[in-house]
Amino acid sequence: MHALNMEPSDDRAVAVSKIMATDVTKVYSTKKSQFVALDRVSFHVDAHEFVSFVGPSGCGKSSLLRILAGLESMTTGSLSISGHEIDGPGADRGMVFQTYTLFPWLSVRENIEFGLTLKGVPLFEKRAVSDHFMELVGLQKFARSLPKELSGGMKQRVAIARALANNPEVLLMDEPFGALDPQTKNSMQELLLRIWEKEKTTVVFITHDIEEAIFLSQRVYVMQAHPGRIRQEVVIPQGLRETLECKDTESFIKLKKQIISLIGDHEE
Ligand SMILES: Nc1ncnc2c1ncn2[C@@H]1O[C@H](COP(=O)(O)OP(=O)(O)OP(=O)(O)O)[C@@H](O)[C@H]1O
Ligand SMILES: [Mg+2]
Repeated sequence: MHALNMEPSDDRAVAVSKIMATDVTKVYSTKKSQFVALDRVSFHVDAHEFVSFVGPSGCGKSSLLRILAGLESMTTGSLSISGHEIDGPGADRGMVFQTYTLFPWLSVRENIEFGLTLKGVPLFEKRAVSDHFMELVGLQKFARSLPKELSGGMKQRVAIARALANNPEVLLMDEPFGALDPQTKNSMQELLLRIWEKEKTTVVFITHDIEEAIFLSQRVYVMQAHPGRIRQEVVIPQGLRETLECKDTESFIKLKKQIISLIGDHEE
């Protein structure tokens, strides 16, 4: 008889999303007024998933990412990573922003090793990690260079390597390629896709470039502004985004038009 067996059954071991957001609301208050930047935003990101958020300027993308990073608090709602409610910044999350946030006085290698140095990781171990990530982003030859000696694309490659070197559970990226010229942007997108396929990091990617979102992501949340809400979730068909040339295919362009019209419907 198994009727009295109170052990949880295997059925309960269902996969829980890496990130769970329920009704996240952010109200910015000034002396005179209150502004609802995010209004009951709910979403999930599974482990190893690449998920983007697109939407018009001011729809709350950066606010959402800062809340995920723990740099800002939400007004109401619930937001957890691996089942733990977010309560401030943590080493479980790596960040890459649009503007270069490298330490100008540190070399490429030292920038990449920064988090490991803080943690007191032994030198030989740090070197192995920075070697791995410099190779991953193709900067082995620039180990000793200072940020000022690098191009914009190279700086962002260091920023990505630095974030990944800390082995974060989630990589949070806010328009990381927004300041790059179109050609560099394209090659960075390909590089990021290759890195993601190899490292299988969970990525939350913010962009207002719809092509970029479709090319990189498995799912895209389309947002709307005033107030910032999720308008629709779009699942990107597998196999659509093999190479950069996919951007010229009929199915890619069709999807792009769909998302543009979703955003356009709500732009003021
Ligand atoms: N610290 C703040 N205080 C008051 N209002 C803010 C603050 N930060 C953002 N906002 C407002 O909240 C809204 C969302 O801003 P947010 O930067 O999150 O948008 P975004 O989608 O990232 O825009 P963009 O595409 O231009 O980067 C905007 O209307 C902005 O003015
Ligand atoms: Mg922003």
